[in-house]
Amino acid sequence: MNREVSDQLIAVKLGGSVITYKQKREAVNVRAIKSLAKSIVRAMRSKDGPKRIFLVHGGGSFGHYWATRFGIGKESHGVSAEGISRTRLSMIKLHSKVLQILCDSGLPCETVAASELVSSSFKEINEIGRQHVSTCFKLGLTPITFGDILLTKFGARVISGDRLAELIARTFDVRRVVFVTNVDGVYEGGDSKGKLIRVITKQSKFVSENQERDVTGGMSMKVSAGLSIAQNGTDVFFVNGKRVEQVVRALCGKPILGTHIPSIRVHS
Ligand SMILES: Nc1ncnc2c1ncn2[C@@H]1O[C@H](COP(=O)(O)OP(=O)(O)O)[C@@H](O)[C@H]1O
Ligand SMILES: [Mg+2]
Repeated sequence: MNREVSDQLIAVKLGGSVITYKQKREAVNVRAIKSLAKSIVRAMRSKDGPKRIFLVHGGGSFGHYWATRFGIGKESHGVSAEGISRTRLSMIKLHSKVLQILCDSGLPCETVAASELVSSSFKEINEIGRQHVSTCFKLGLTPITFGDILLTKFGARVISGDRLAELIARTFDVRRVVFVTNVDGVYEGGDSKGKLIRVITKQSKFVSENQERDVTGGMSMKVSAGLSIAQNGTDVFFVNGKRVEQVVRALCGKPILGTHIPSIRVHS
């Protein structure tokens, strides 16, 4: 679908666990974002690197804090106007910081809001969003979106960056999706003391620890999103955002220390 956009395109989700300090309210990890920005620019300039990237970032200690405080989740009725406004404001604060750092690092980006991308069924990407993304690439801009709050007929709900990455992969036929978090990948037994799982398939047994869950479901939802992306023919990788070399390798499609969910269909 939409080959013009999809040509050598990958999707990269920068997790809130790496771009913010999740335990501290509204604390940006500037160092981590700068390092990721450098790695992205390096990968895009390298011979085997992706020519186009669709960036997504999470909410970390910004959106998640307010969504939790005002009880905004996946299906939320009767959310207060203040809750909606504060959650959005917080995401915009984080997003503008991310944009600033990316631009200063040589990667001019264009914001494509989740509300513009996602259809009212939350199951696909709108035509308006597709056009916007296509125009971004024509102008040499990297499209970037972020997990956000969306208004519904009944109230407001959260759409996670992980889910956005899934919709993007489905719509634009991306080569691979890279989830960047603060851990090396998915571990057996539910925490980083377990063994790193190098390959996950539908048959894999995976346990996620509840204590580390964020408002959008933490690692277990990320793995579900990954499995669904792989099912639709796109390779998925989980990599640690603190490991610069590994991030660059993941973006360039080289073997990494991390978790791989192999695509079900093989790309021609
Ligand atoms: N089985 C697991 N393997 C790896 N991490 C896990 C696992 N279960 C829970 N986690 C936790 O999930 C976190 C990553 O998910 P999440 O916080 O949602 O990341 P992000 O903010 O990047 O979306 C890790 O920091 C880790 O503490
Ligand atoms: Mg998360």
